[in-house]
Amino acid sequence: MNQDELKAQTGKESVKYIKSGMIVGLGTGSTVRYMVDELGKQVQAGNLTNIIGVTTSSRTTKQAESLGITIKNLDDVDHIDLTIDGADEISDDFQGIKGGGGALLWEKIVANVSDKVMWIVDQSKLVHKLGKFPLPVEVIPFGSQHVFNRLEKKGYKPTWRMDGDKKFRSDENNYIIDLHLEEIDHPAALADELIHMVGIVETGLFLNRVNDVIVGTDEGPKVLHA
Ligand code: A5P
Repeated sequence: MNQDELKAQTGKESVKYIKSGMIVGLGTGSTVRYMVDELGKQVQAGNLTNIIGVTTSSRTTKQAESLGITIKNLDDVDHIDLTIDGADEISDDFQGIKGGGGALLWEKIVANVSDKVMWIVDQSKLVHKLGKFPLPVEVIPFGSQHVFNRLEKKGYKPTWRMDGDKKFRSDENNYIIDLHLEEIDHPAALADELIHMVGIVETGLFLNRVNDVIVGTDEGPKVLHA
């Protein structure tokens, strides 16, 4: 199976964990797209009723609403039962890098208020150690060149996330800087250091956030419990 087929497999499988009446956090990305498509089908068929979705990006809101899924603002719900989201890398000890699609800030906020978090990935996302995938860091535009320069001085090999010839803007209108680290030996210490740099709003290090992972493999979907 190619990567896209594996993404479709895990996306579809994850919808089996959604039950009628649930408030569901809807992630962002190409794998989540398949999950939202399937959820839309189940809602339209009447197999899942009273589903409320809370999204992690304007892209997902648009897709979900076009499929007839009811969407509420995060502040209009008191909790989220289950959030299903993608990931860019998951290490042996279930730590993750997210934000390849630029939605890391809303994704982390939604994950934080979710009773359960499930990540859906194809098998290529499982790694021994984090860091091959560039680590996204969301920064406030004001003074962000100075944040970039500090990251460069620290040897973190930053690059600006681009959208054509302009800097990429997140749903909060912020910039994203990608750090090309290759190997992250101490994710918690790095997350702590970065979040304390003035101007950085959030990092793509999702540590101790996931409960279950569904991995798309050639032998079918595999469930891993963190
Ligand atoms: C979005 O910002 C990301 O966190 C995605 O969840 C992650 O990049 C996985 O995306 P794909 O499913 O497209 O690989």
